[in-house]
Amino acid sequence: MLKICFSGFAVMLASFIAFGVNLGLSSHLEETDQEYPSIDFTGDFVFPGDWGDVPTTWVTTFYPGQSSWQWLEREAHPGASGLANGTGCRSCHEGREEALGESLVKGNELEPTPIEGKAGAKDLKLQAAYDEQYFYLRAEWESERPGITHGTYRYDESKGEWIRASKNKPYPLGKNEFYSYEDRLALILDDQNIAAYAGAQVGVKEVGCWVTCHSSMREMPKRPSTEEVKAHPYLGEDNLGEDDIRKYLLKTRYELDEAGGWDKVDSEKAEQMFEEGEFLDLIQFRGARSAPMQSASSDYVLEYRFSGVSGVNSWINQDPPYVESDWMYDREKTGFNFFPEEKLKAGEIDQYPLYTEGPKQNWAHYDPEAEARDGDMLPRRILREATGSRGAVDAYSKWEDGKWAVTLVRELDTGYPDDKVLTEGNVYNVGFGLFDDHVSSRFHYVTLPLTMGLGDVEADIQAIRID
Ligand code: HEC
Repeated sequence: MLKICFSGFAVMLASFIAFGVNLGLSSHLEETDQEYPSIDFTGDFVFPGDWGDVPTTWVTTFYPGQSSWQWLEREAHPGASGLANGTGCRSCHEGREEALGESLVKGNELEPTPIEGKAGAKDLKLQAAYDEQYFYLRAEWESERPGITHGTYRYDESKGEWIRASKNKPYPLGKNEFYSYEDRLALILDDQNIAAYAGAQVGVKEVGCWVTCHSSMREMPKRPSTEEVKAHPYLGEDNLGEDDIRKYLLKTRYELDEAGGWDKVDSEKAEQMFEEGEFLDLIQFRGARSAPMQSASSDYVLEYRFSGVSGVNSWINQDPPYVESDWMYDREKTGFNFFPEEKLKAGEIDQYPLYTEGPKQNWAHYDPEAEARDGDMLPRRILREATGSRGAVDAYSKWEDGKWAVTLVRELDTGYPDDKVLTEGNVYNVGFGLFDDHVSSRFHYVTLPLTMGLGDVEADIQAIRID
């Protein structure tokens, strides 16, 4: 057990005050105890080298607010003409990431809904290595609590129903709700310097993550309604089945506008781009949905943000009433059928993951006769083994003493068409996203564009050979 530092407590106090809630009388499920057990999802993984011999790169991740590509190329951004003429973000902003994050996180024209007490930047420690077959990326960052919960249901005795009780910041908590969203580390990987838009003078190398970031995405100022997306012939119900806009590349649109041409998909072009390897590989370590299964999602970005082309992700959704859901905890293994609210309040979340497969299985069939008490909880996401392309990245992680340490492991060549092949002597354009303190979508931290190389090459992050 460890003590969470007082600044964390101050942050929580500040948010109580901000939402006008009295600590003692709160009907929210804010954690009231600042102790968390260490969480270990490393299993029996042993890194075949010595991390002490692998060079370390510290990068600053910072809060980007709503700085979409569409905002960056407007006159309001003093860098707009620089970007049009081929100058990248780092030429102007390198070394000033923290100041950028601090100015945005407090709220300004690019941040209409600031999160009380959130820091503007966070340091990320990175190390990379490879051998004949595998690539290893180790990341460490400070995080005051282990974000290993996500969507959660809570039993409401007065209604006799399971109610969604979990929220992400910055949304204020309702009665009996709590902040639950998982911690995440995401990275994009590019080997072609894909242009920011057709004919652009800058690509992923110069603009990093912003090649994917548009004003029409979730939580962004020009997002379309759920109905508009559902009704879209390509993205909506009749085809992809989406109801919101996530990361995409502007080169997949036949026309652009202030909303990044979200509805102007050129699907033939996208298909051709995929064949030519013109897409971004995306890896996401997810504290609740993948980490307990020693996995990270292996996604990619093209005309939408897709999961891998084959197999299943490491989680399933269960949604009460229990027509399609069939999981609760096995009392014999955990001591309970439903996760006790008291444990959540006390920060004792190590038993939260509900495993349906693998060595840690702790599930039983949902039994309507099992007596749920007011406040009992069930995770919405139930865990299983990731397979196929969606299971191509392993993750071995640990949260201890206020710090995450995560090692991602992937074959250099996974053999799947949606994964970039990593080759000795090559340099890749990368960007990282860090989700800390129960946030989702754009409320993450990001890096300026970075490079990562394998072997004896010039790059910000240098992967060394260990065999
Ligand atoms: C030619 C120089 C230049 C380039 C290139 C450039 N910027 Fe800027 N940017 C500026 C200047 C100058 C400002 C205003 C002062 C400041 O906030 O640093 C600014 C402001 C910003 C702001 C607003 C900060 C706030 O407090 O509101 C963001 C966000 C930003 N830039 C992001 C980027 C990103 C991301 C890129 C690359 C995709 C980029 N800039 C490229 C010069 C540049």
